[in-house]
Amino acid sequence: MRRFLPLLLVVLGAAVATAAAAALSARWWFAAGPLLATACLGVRDLLQRGRSVTRNHPLLGRLRYPTVRALPRGAGPEHPADAAGEHDGHEYLVPSLRPVEAAEEPPVVRVGGPDCSQPYDMALLNVSAMSFGALSSRAVLALNRGAALGRFAQDTGEGGLSEHHLRGGGDLVWEIGTGYFGCRTSDGGFDERVFADKAALPEVKCVSLKLSQGAAPGSDSVLPGVKVGVEIARERGVPVGEPVVSPPVHRTFSTPRELVLFLARLRELAGGKPTGFKLCVGSRREFLAVCRAMAAEGVTPDFVVVDGSEGGTGAAPAEFAGRLGMPLTQGLITVHNALAGVGLRDRVRIGASGRVASGSDIVRRLVQGADYTNAARAMMLAVGCVRAGRCHTGACPAGVATQDPSRARALHVAGKAREVRRYQRETVRDAVRIMAAMGVREPGGLTPAHLVRRTGPGAECSYAELYEWLAPGELLAGPPESWAADWKAADPDSFG
Ligand SMILES: Cc1cc2nc3c(=O)[nH]c(=O)nc-3n(C[C@H](O)[C@H](O)[C@H](O)COP(=O)(O)O)c2cc1C
Repeated sequence: MRRFLPLLLVVLGAAVATAAAAALSARWWFAAGPLLATACLGVRDLLQRGRSVTRNHPLLGRLRYPTVRALPRGAGPEHPADAAGEHDGHEYLVPSLRPVEAAEEPPVVRVGGPDCSQPYDMALLNVSAMSFGALSSRAVLALNRGAALGRFAQDTGEGGLSEHHLRGGGDLVWEIGTGYFGCRTSDGGFDERVFADKAALPEVKCVSLKLSQGAAPGSDSVLPGVKVGVEIARERGVPVGEPVVSPPVHRTFSTPRELVLFLARLRELAGGKPTGFKLCVGSRREFLAVCRAMAAEGVTPDFVVVDGSEGGTGAAPAEFAGRLGMPLTQGLITVHNALAGVGLRDRVRIGASGRVASGSDIVRRLVQGADYTNAARAMMLAVGCVRAGRCHTGACPAGVATQDPSRARALHVAGKAREVRRYQRETVRDAVRIMAAMGVREPGGLTPAHLVRRTGPGAECSYAELYEWLAPGELLAGPPESWAADWKAADPDSFG
């Protein structure tokens, strides 16, 4: 409760000075006046609901985080795009001299291939995977309620399907990681029966198998012991106060073929709900091996979420971030081309995550091969994150990335849910307006020619010229020379 000490001292000081002014001399009002005003300010900080950080740190929160407003909106100075540092002056989207009227209703993307019996209409921007554990229960709930208000989806993250994910009525993508939290046998394996029961819940719209993520490809991810309270421990089936380690590999498969067969099994257990996987692409050959397995087994995931190496995390060695795996642009283009090359692109939707924060980010990613996008850190800002950099300590001043109930209580769920909804709505609206200015009404109308990169002084190239774009089935018919070696080496029975 040291957080409230400054306010307490000010209130005491104000009381003493006021008493002295009344009893001793009117001069004391010179001290009592400012102290009373400061005390009022502090009490107001404590009672207001807009800024969690000043609720948690009355008075001092103003000094330490003076510029962070409660919510991201439009393209203001606190726009999440600024946080993500994503303003690439080397690229621009191509406007049209024949713009069209922006679509009234934001477009949605139907996710569900031929083996899916319960397709889901995904919004253009959704809440990316963040577990209850990395985030507080209130942050999870606020994101979920925001998703329900705005009719978009929240990915649960690999920490399991908690009651907080289910309380707000939002659509869920249930993520299963290597720890199989939420559907885990006592020895840490995958429990089919428990999975099937939970996947049947109406809130669960899709199932996502996490292979890797941008900030931590191929590494253990660790939830620090300080964040493992009773509820998290119960949720994940682990001891209280001890770090939770998600192992680097899955126990349920060890080859690309086994992976796609496992995906098919998951979809079957989930009653035909869309089932896919998330990865940060490491090598083209490895992903091609998965595509070969899809083609060989006649099994496709309903979606693939590509995470860029620039992605964030609640639980990874800092050294990994941004240093392993393909950045989102490269990863997306690789996955899009590989699926197109094996003739499966029309069956598999591609999601993209990695510093997506603004409308133009969405459109850029659509041009590069995505069908929809997810945002994690921008959504954290929407629920009040002040970028204090203390996620791993459990002492988040905004109540977002903490398991300390006294800190989390500062996050006002209903208010933050509205911010989440507003942020998503405005950002998608911006994307739709940008597309309209480019002469495009639907994402399907975007082509690689719509994005241009400056490649040198006075020189520029569109993505259509910069990258190779494979025609449907081209790898099967005869791969171009630049793909031939990887295609030949890709083995559906080995990740390589
Ligand atoms: C606090 C936090 C927790 C995360 N937890 C998960 C997780 O459980 N599973 C996962 O696949 N990705 C997780 N991620 C990664 C995000 O889902 C996302 O892929 C990545 O941060 C890139 O998106 P961004 O740039 O919008 O943050 C997490 C990210 C953050 C910031």
